[in-house]
Amino acid sequence: MAAFGTVFMPQMALAKYENQQWTDSEIVSSDSISLHPGAHVLHYSSTCFEGLKAFRHQDGSVHIFRMDANIKRMVQSAKLLSLPAFEPAFLEQMIKNIVAKFAAEVPEAPGSMYIRPTFIGTEPAIGKAAAATNSAMLYVLLSPVGDYFAAGARPLRLLLEENGMRCAPHMGMVKSGGNYASALGPITQARTEVDADQVLFCPNGDVQETGAANFILIDGDELITKALDSSFLHGVTRDSILTLARDLGLTVSERQLSVDELLERAAKPGCEAALSGTAAVLTPVGTLIHQGKEHTVGNGEAGATTLKLRQALNDIQWGNSADPHAWLSKV
Ligand SMILES: Cc1ncc(COP(=O)(O)O)c(C=O)c1O
Repeated sequence: MAAFGTVFMPQMALAKYENQQWTDSEIVSSDSISLHPGAHVLHYSSTCFEGLKAFRHQDGSVHIFRMDANIKRMVQSAKLLSLPAFEPAFLEQMIKNIVAKFAAEVPEAPGSMYIRPTFIGTEPAIGKAAAATNSAMLYVLLSPVGDYFAAGARPLRLLLEENGMRCAPHMGMVKSGGNYASALGPITQARTEVDADQVLFCPNGDVQETGAANFILIDGDELITKALDSSFLHGVTRDSILTLARDLGLTVSERQLSVDELLERAAKPGCEAALSGTAAVLTPVGTLIHQGKEHTVGNGEAGATTLKLRQALNDIQWGNSADPHAWLSKV
């Protein structure tokens, strides 16, 4: 199977912001876009994006998961990056249009159609380091994806990074390319030096998130994860998993988690840890690497509660159970 996110549908939905207003959205070829080399995004990173999925149910119908939450986050990212404002309903229609167009291509379970709304500043102006772009482009790419973490994948190894941070503290809640570029160095180094899959950023001992997923600790019937603040991305999967955990009767504690507490709890035989995200779904974490020492989380295997929560989420997404929180939008 092709690597996640490397295959694209041949068309995308696209709209432009020019002369203080939005054009109608169009369906255009996704092969290329034309940008001036001095475009604002290429110099000053005026860009944000989203990631959500559409799922095919057994009756053939196609459903988009939590589109409203992703659109809301993109509106917030755009605002915090001084990109032009757009109405949530505008992007919703673009997403629905392009998914409807390629509904026949949405893979069956365990695959799905990954949806990537992207927003960039296009003004050709290299003197606007401290000024917002006055033109922009919003487009929605589609990429059919398989099971990102196929069954049998080993639990992840995470390096705990207490010195550096993923991105500037006020930018964590913005889904913007610069944050990912900023985390690349530490992740590449951790792969080379300690064979880690991901870096868990814990500046000054505060357990935050990895480069592309939120972190969740499960100790008995308590689920612990960092409370929302501006320093990390407010994952839609995180929110979904916390909701399902409450539904299952677990105690959900959104609060500060220190590296010391994490390592102390991880040493207990029944403890579980996982990464949550649209791509990761809920992926077990087996090992934490801290100051050169390896700490096994619980028994080092995928935990029972992690697998139960992951299944509960997948069952809603693929229509194998009810959707009590109205998370799906039929296309
Ligand atoms: C940095 C980061 N944290 C968390 C997440 C999880 O967010 P979501 O569950 O909305 O996909 C992502 C995205 O996938 C991410 O890139």
